Amino acid sequence: MMRKAEPFRIKMVEPIRLISREAREKALVEAGYNPFSLKGEEVYIDLLTDSGTGAMSDNQWAGIMLGDESYAGSRNFYNLSQSVKDIIGYNYTIPTHQGRGAEQVLFPLLVKKGQYVIGNMHFDTTMAHIDLSGGRPINFVTEKAFDTTTPYDFKGNFDVEKMEAFIKEKGAENVAFILITITCNSSGGQPVSMENIRAVSEVGKKYGIRVLIDAARFAENSYFIKKREKGYENKSIVEIVKETFSYAEAFTMSAKKDALVNIGGLIGIKDNEKLYTEARSMVVPLEGFPTYGGLAGRDMEALARGLREGVDEAYLEYRINQVAYLGKRLSDGGVPIQSPTGGHAVFVDAKKMLPHIPANQFPAQVLANELYLESGVRGVEIGSFLLGRDAETGEQLESPMELLRLTIPRRTYTNNHMDVVADALINIKDRAHTLKGLEFTYEPKILRHFTARLKPIE
Ligand code: F0G
Repeated sequence: MMRKAEPFRIKMVEPIRLISREAREKALVEAGYNPFSLKGEEVYIDLLTDSGTGAMSDNQWAGIMLGDESYAGSRNFYNLSQSVKDIIGYNYTIPTHQGRGAEQVLFPLLVKKGQYVIGNMHFDTTMAHIDLSGGRPINFVTEKAFDTTTPYDFKGNFDVEKMEAFIKEKGAENVAFILITITCNSSGGQPVSMENIRAVSEVGKKYGIRVLIDAARFAENSYFIKKREKGYENKSIVEIVKETFSYAEAFTMSAKKDALVNIGGLIGIKDNEKLYTEARSMVVPLEGFPTYGGLAGRDMEALARGLREGVDEAYLEYRINQVAYLGKRLSDGGVPIQSPTGGHAVFVDAKKMLPHIPANQFPAQVLANELYLESGVRGVEIGSFLLGRDAETGEQLESPMELLRLTIPRRTYTNNHMDVVADALINIKDRAHTLKGLEFTYEPKILRHFTARLKPIE
């Protein structure tokens, strides 16, 4: 097969710069050994997140100029609703400023105090919004996800049997809804199969429990289904997207990922008019009037266009292949990763790479820091440092995985950048046994990983 290059030309660039080793050492000390606190300009290649960090197209920038900044009834809102209808097939669209804006509007309408919200694996801010709504988040991702070395095509799948047993035990009335996160960020950007989505929705139907989708990376999930699931190889991405969403009643979406914008989010409701009416009233005090929800007309236009570009197969092929390229360079170089590679990021298994550092000394955070010192590359810890403490006992919880996420912004870096990242981690591998664990010098109570300060244990 003919080799394919990026399906775009680069029209505009943002210069980046590698500061000296000495300057990086100083910056990391000032950041309290927490890359979240580094300044953007101190970072050479930024793999902290794929959220709001992608490059927009000429078509999206042109749309920005066509922003109709009406408080109510902007034409860009109608374009956005049309994109949602065409791609996802849902009747009702409510824009929000980003994903968590959608969660804060929708979740309180669905949760009664003390009810469970079942997920494959909830994202951290999603979990926080379930808590804030009085719900209790609980995860049923397949055990296969926790074994990083053995590949499995759908490590984002629910363990449906375990989930159903839980519902039977607790009673359906104690479950507010089931939230399917596609792809499953927390298990490694791993896809959920159509078969699994269907099975989850059948359980929902059987017990009268609503099913929702956390749709941040819905297009990447659909691409994986096309590539990996029997019966879907000849379907278009939009067909797969539509089928996926047909099994749910509503979705929340951070549009800063697959919808290719720097800001924006969505609530989508298939056809439940009552739920739509309730959500529409709640969005006003929280996000803004229902036809803008915290976004400017121009943002909604960029999003209306980004949704269409995000399901383009040539784009998705390039996208997923770039992430796989970094994954392959790392595994060929002996760096342990979650396999197969996920959709938006490569997840390095720091438990395997730094087995001498216990969970409560945060091996993946140690690795993130070392990667920054080595190469100016910023990744992010997804492990015990992120997980935090037990709310009741105050004990540090131990995450089932200690991962360093190398998150690839969309249409932003080339494979030369990926090579810099891979070379740096392969270099670190040989001296990994000399790296030291971390302890807190400052530990905030809530979502501590954003602002905590640490130091190496002597
Ligand atoms: N759901 C998932 C699966 C996410 O990954 C995120 C954000 C959100 C919801 C919240 O959306 O940021 O627009 O408010 N994930 C980013 C990340 C921040 O780095 O993985 P948001």
